Amino acid sequence: MPRKVNRGVDYDEAYDSYDDYDYEDDNDYSVDSPAKVEEPQQKVKKLWSCSICTYDNEEGMSVCDICGVIRNPVAGDFKNSNKKTADSEGKCSGVSLLAKSLFGSLPHQTSQKAVVGQLQKDDLVMESRNDFHKSPSPDDMVSTRLQSSKLNTQGNVKPSTVAEDGNGAESVHSTMQRSEKSNKSKGKRGKQNASNSTDTAVNGNNFGKMSLSDKPGNSNALDSRKHKSTAEYHPDKWMLPDKANDTLTQLNLAIVGHVDSGKSTLSGRLLHLLGRITKKEMHKYEKDAKIQGKSSFAYAWALDESPEERERGITMNVAVAYFNSKKYHVVILDSPGHKDFVPNMISGATQADAAILVIDASNGAFEAGFDGSKGQTREHALLIRSFGVEQLIVAVNKMDVVGYSKDRFDLIVTQLGTFFRSCGFKESCILWIPLSAVENQNLVAAPSDARLLSWYRGPYLFDAIDSLQPPARDFAKPLLMPICDVTKSSSQGQVSVCGKLVAGALRSGLKVMVMPSGEVGTIKSLERDSQSSAVARAGDNVTINLQGIDLSNNVMPGGVVCHPDYPVAVARHLELKVRALEELAVPILNGSQVEFHIHHAQAAGKVAKILSILDPKSGKETKRSPRCLLSKQSAVIEVVLNTPVCVEEYSNCRALGRASLRAMGRTIAIGIVTRIIQ
Ligand code: GTP
Ligand code: MG
Repeated sequence: MPRKVNRGVDYDEAYDSYDDYDYEDDNDYSVDSPAKVEEPQQKVKKLWSCSICTYDNEEGMSVCDICGVIRNPVAGDFKNSNKKTADSEGKCSGVSLLAKSLFGSLPHQTSQKAVVGQLQKDDLVMESRNDFHKSPSPDDMVSTRLQSSKLNTQGNVKPSTVAEDGNGAESVHSTMQRSEKSNKSKGKRGKQNASNSTDTAVNGNNFGKMSLSDKPGNSNALDSRKHKSTAEYHPDKWMLPDKANDTLTQLNLAIVGHVDSGKSTLSGRLLHLLGRITKKEMHKYEKDAKIQGKSSFAYAWALDESPEERERGITMNVAVAYFNSKKYHVVILDSPGHKDFVPNMISGATQADAAILVIDASNGAFEAGFDGSKGQTREHALLIRSFGVEQLIVAVNKMDVVGYSKDRFDLIVTQLGTFFRSCGFKESCILWIPLSAVENQNLVAAPSDARLLSWYRGPYLFDAIDSLQPPARDFAKPLLMPICDVTKSSSQGQVSVCGKLVAGALRSGLKVMVMPSGEVGTIKSLERDSQSSAVARAGDNVTINLQGIDLSNNVMPGGVVCHPDYPVAVARHLELKVRALEELAVPILNGSQVEFHIHHAQAAGKVAKILSILDPKSGKETKRSPRCLLSKQSAVIEVVLNTPVCVEEYSNCRALGRASLRAMGRTIAIGIVTRIIQ
């Protein structure tokens, strides 16, 4: 059964998540009716440029509309128009101080003129705005995001075999735990990766070292793209699933939630109960954890493998493990909850088909996690929704601490339920499970504790997973596999890349193109779940060993393996439809510096222009060229990235067209790519 419902009204999947927000408390930036927009009139208005933020204010304004700085010179004082006095500089309001700190980080352009000038200089085409609200095609298949990992036969995390072999293999950074952990154990780049993961977009994506123009094959790639439309694509028979042979559907399940809510403990406990962690292994975790004075983390240690994670008692990189349920081959992605590692959480959870949001039911802990400015519950929920996740299991954990209280559970359900609806989760797609990972209540069997039994009649967690709807897959589309990890082996002249197939299929001997370099290589072999495999199809998580790829070339996480005739687009100037999040500390302005996240790629960039504010319900434009974007507002914006990313318009491929913007360590907006401008 398809996961996606209600396509007829799916003006876009990300956007219907915004529908329930209450916009009444927004100020009037967003409420101008379209009739009031008179572009020609605006053009002839006289403007004065703010000396601090360089915003172009209308002639009648005596203080800057953005930062509150008093106009200097005041209207009519033309003689001194170029003089800045100490006096005038000292007249900054509190708001202007904030603006100063904000603009201080900008290299230059924040005025409208400056931005336009910059764009022209870069030969970036500013197209007609008539199609800003073109909705993505409702016919698009829901793309699915399954994890990319290598797992040992026990189902728990195993470092990349190539990275392990000690034969000169060098693993390129990743935010997924599998390869990072192998690096860390070798004392290589793991630690650096971990710190890089704390919102340093440029480091996070090594495309910065790449130039599109000087990469062999790239122009060919882009040329061929012009000639081939996906409508012309016809998959071979082997690419489509064979019902007789395929048994369990793969389900990628992100485990997300506020720090310390018990995600790793819950994951470890599940794996143990399902026999994926042996008694011997568990005994070792318990013993080691006890020695380090961290007995309570024994189950978490099955997932938190690195010394640093164990020492700090937090997950830093997404851990990958799997087990089989009656219906699914479940791949769990245990995400970090700490705010510093949200970029890692994004890279892992971006592949999720469904999610378990873990809530700490303890008094004060639920409240801390749900706190808008400090907690991660809201941010994680919004992010996974923006990745297209529609099905959510809310695991209300640590119920033992609150005596399995029904009142506490109900309070959490009420408060979170309202929030989830505002994120666009349908009530029917949310399952609430009270449980205790530590006391093994309600995980793989009905609860045994009388206090919980007395009032809870719903499914236990394992059953709830089986009740999720299977994800739809893009089997019949050209191959697309965003790269999650890369391992290069100089001794074997081989590059291994891991990722989840978003669309299409692959098998040994197939020629593929690696973007953005545009190099074409041949698949020598491939592995699914650490087992050699003949074929992999959309939804599968694979490691592919490539031949014929120049090792000196940058094959990086964030790149995409694709069909040579249908290469993914590579761009740095994009139009997005976004929704600013509630917790926006400062407004988003033309020129605001952001970190752009899309599938496994990150890039630093700026909001080049806020084109229009949208009505969140209808998607219609309510104001053109607004001065700024405030909390909870929806808008069409253009971003210009410092380095190009592999990207698709959301209407072509949902998984490669969903993006999020971060700044100052917080997610500030989520959205979709509506147009590739470059
Ligand atoms: P991060 O990955 O760092 O965000 O943390 P986490 O959500 O994975 O939490 P983790 O599993 O590391 O557990 C944090 C602490 O909560 C540990 O001390 C666990 O023993 C404890 N904990 C987890 N589940 C339960 C539970 O059901 N009951 C009680 N009492 N404690 C729990
Ligand atoms: Mg954890």
